[in-house]
Amino acid sequence: MAKITVNGREIEAEVGAPLVEVLTSLGLAVPHLCYLEGRPPYAGCRTCLVEIEGARGLQLSCTAKVAEGMVVRTETDEVKEARKAVTSIILANHSDRCLTCHRRVKCLPGDICLRDDVVTHRCVTCSKNYRCELQTHCELVGMTNYEPWVGEARTYYQAEQPEADRANPFLEFDPQMCIICTRCVRACDEIRHTGAITLSGRGFSTRIAFGAGGSIHESNCDFCGACIDVCPTATLMEKTNKWIARTDEWVSTACNSCSVGCTLSMGVRNGRGVIIRPDPLNPVSFDQICVRGRFHYDAVPDRDRLSQHMVRRGEALLPASWEEALDSAAERLAEIRSRHGPAAIGFLGSPVATNEENYLLQKLARAVVGSNNVDFSGGPVARSVAGALRDAFGSEALPADLSRVAQASALVVVADDLESSHNVAALRVKDAVVRRGARLVVVSPRYGEVCDFAEVWVRPRAGGEAAALAAVGAALVARTGAHEGIEGAPPSAGQAGGAEPEAVQRAADLLASAAADLPDRQAGPQAHLAFLFAPGPIGRFAAGQTARAAANLAILCRGREAHQSFYSLPAEANVHGARDMGLAPDLLPGLRPLDAAAARDVFRQAWGAEVPSEAGLDFWGMIEAARQGRLKALVVVGDNPFLWAPGRQSLREALEGLDFLLVIDGLMTETAERAHVLLADVPTYGKDGTYTSADRRVLRLKAALAPLGEACPAWLSLRELGRRLAEKLSVTVNLEAEGPEALMQEIAALVPAYAGARYDRLQSGKTRALPPETPSRAVFQDVSAAGEAPAEGRLTLITGRSLYTSLEGAALRSPEADKLHREELVEINPADAAALSVRQGEEVVLVSDSAEVAIAASVTEAVPPGVLYVPLYDGGGAVTTLFPPDDGRPLLPQVRVAVRQPA
Ligand code: SF4
Ligand code: SF4
Ligand code: SF4
Ligand code: SF4
Ligand code: FES
Repeated sequence: MAKITVNGREIEAEVGAPLVEVLTSLGLAVPHLCYLEGRPPYAGCRTCLVEIEGARGLQLSCTAKVAEGMVVRTETDEVKEARKAVTSIILANHSDRCLTCHRRVKCLPGDICLRDDVVTHRCVTCSKNYRCELQTHCELVGMTNYEPWVGEARTYYQAEQPEADRANPFLEFDPQMCIICTRCVRACDEIRHTGAITLSGRGFSTRIAFGAGGSIHESNCDFCGACIDVCPTATLMEKTNKWIARTDEWVSTACNSCSVGCTLSMGVRNGRGVIIRPDPLNPVSFDQICVRGRFHYDAVPDRDRLSQHMVRRGEALLPASWEEALDSAAERLAEIRSRHGPAAIGFLGSPVATNEENYLLQKLARAVVGSNNVDFSGGPVARSVAGALRDAFGSEALPADLSRVAQASALVVVADDLESSHNVAALRVKDAVVRRGARLVVVSPRYGEVCDFAEVWVRPRAGGEAAALAAVGAALVARTGAHEGIEGAPPSAGQAGGAEPEAVQRAADLLASAAADLPDRQAGPQAHLAFLFAPGPIGRFAAGQTARAAANLAILCRGREAHQSFYSLPAEANVHGARDMGLAPDLLPGLRPLDAAAARDVFRQAWGAEVPSEAGLDFWGMIEAARQGRLKALVVVGDNPFLWAPGRQSLREALEGLDFLLVIDGLMTETAERAHVLLADVPTYGKDGTYTSADRRVLRLKAALAPLGEACPAWLSLRELGRRLAEKLSVTVNLEAEGPEALMQEIAALVPAYAGARYDRLQSGKTRALPPETPSRAVFQDVSAAGEAPAEGRLTLITGRSLYTSLEGAALRSPEADKLHREELVEINPADAAALSVRQGEEVVLVSDSAEVAIAASVTEAVPPGVLYVPLYDGGGAVTTLFPPDDGRPLLPQVRVAVRQPA
């Protein structure tokens, strides 16, 4: 640390820190229009001038570094005058009229400018008025009436201004507002590693451009919005709500669109969300989010959300009061339980419901109804992965911390396309590669943007990931020998799942040298290997086997410390939380096995009711039981199997065979359409509660949106339903908790990992739900391979979570679920396309043994020959029609491709 003097005050600051950051952290209004916090200075705007004693002339505080004894003055007359002068140069190329006008505070948008009737662009008619950094800057610097150019020709008013790009659904670009600070260029390049924006032209014709100068849509922009956050003017703006995004308040909440768990700050106006920014509370996401977090809050208009509870009368679902709907549901469930027993009722929670809601749902199932038929449609895949991790490390709750990924020296990514499924996790992988020179291995049949950052891309055939990982492991053993003292047989050489032997060998060589470079195999911030595994959302066999193979590889490289390096990233936001809350047929909250009497005792005492000891049916067990008529009723809270599970036909049969279906949801999903009673829930951003992210951070959701109509949060409907049911069934259960905070207090008292998650202690995004015992095992497991070459004339179908299609839009099968219309396609390799005479963009029909899906073809090398890829959310999960139900065997449907003949 150094002692420096700022405006006469002595302070301590880190030696070498950028002076501008030290000054602004002291609360000093030092302008810095081109500076990007944490990045090297650009030194282009010259607004950050300060006086540094001993230096000749004024100095740029963004390039100056803190040094012992430095004496800095930020408010001398000379500094103030110089700031005005440099600002006036910036304004020469901006629509400046309001910025220097003494009467701007009196002007309203409709008023005609009294100074200059040709001025069309000015602050009062600008969408960024009152929330613009340049405007604030001019206020602070004191630009009113500072017009040294009076009488001179000015570039802004003389040059022809470029056209704005307003055709994009997410981002608007109006280059005539640009002050060429280049923050956006650097944010896109240095922070996002995307490089979609460039500086083009020279001198006065220098401009910011997307891609090669075309539309935003044609560039490689992925609409993360980082450039919008840093733009000090109205040049780059969110398209949606841009005119009304002056907010009444900002509410911190969490993204519901993947398990990275980015924290968000939602700007609210009149009870409506109008803008989202990253909330830097969370060290994983910090100041970054992706297109889903930033824009999908607005994917579904309010009119398409449920605002009334409903009860089925005859064929029709008709509006009903909350009491009426609850009474009707309680009566039907009590009747079914009396007649058929508790095992005839099933409960599906959801990976986008909060921990508090899922906890309450399973409590209602177990303590009130007496049924352990508790799961969610993604539960079987999650269970399969969890089982593999438990067997490998002794626990599925791993301590590996995603905020350390960017410091890794080598990484292995096992995913379909991490960039699309878990965008900000992919960003941290890129950070490690670009900023630290980390070495990256990607194991995936399909191309994703992280492949461009990889040193080795191991590309097996579809379903061959586990075998390819096993082959890399075997090559590693051949090179370095297996770990001593690790139980189980290390991987042995096999077929490599169709991956190139050379890539397998190179991956093994890379990992061997990266592991050898770790000082003493101890996890530490300077030496870290990261294994990121993002299972596909469909297929429990592949998820489990690939998890085993990836864990084997991590153990080979990190030995008993492997649990510190292994990241399991489920597709949906709160899968880990759902399991922690006991949303499983064999687990009580806290991942306690249901068959342990001591565990049941804990909950019996806390809930004041018996906990049934026999494991219940899992999701597929419930579907099968419903098809066979054994399961009579299903309570579904926020789950939508039609979107998240394969085997659509059996799901239909199962739900249609039920005597009673209760759905609590905020949208009329395909599941909700079949309900007998439908209780309207509020959307995620209208909820209080918590999520648990992939690396087990507890994220606080705070209700930002006002409820619509009669809709009320699921926890409230569940509690009232529980009370009514308990009364009808004459059971006593403690259902006193008066809201999410009290529910979390109850959870925290019962589940040690959540002790720090009580709202009065919780630090959202920092508190982690880790069990007190650290994982203690490292065991190699056998791996079964799948993924044979497809039969003649058929191609193997795979699916996954794509980047742009919104969860809520897909749940409603909205044609605008993918506003960019980039993901409404099947990817087909050029070799297959040529063999089948399929042309780019042509509509084809994918035909399985039982179903057909019509879709446009995208001819691309992104998929290997023999493989077709359709995004899971396209057409509201239409691709699941082509998948059979998941019976635990490899799920790799082989389909024919037919070119659709014109009608
Ligand atoms: S970008 Fe800012 S300074 Fe420029 S016209 Fe809009 S509000 Fe005014
Ligand atoms: S939205 Fe993201 S990817 Fe697109 S230009 Fe801006 S920073 Fe780059
Ligand atoms: S678009 Fe915005 S951030 Fe980019 S150079 Fe122009 S003013 Fe700066
Ligand atoms: S990376 Fe995931 S959690 Fe983060 S903003 Fe994107 S979808 Fe949301
Ligand atoms: S912030 Fe220092 S020159 Fe722009």
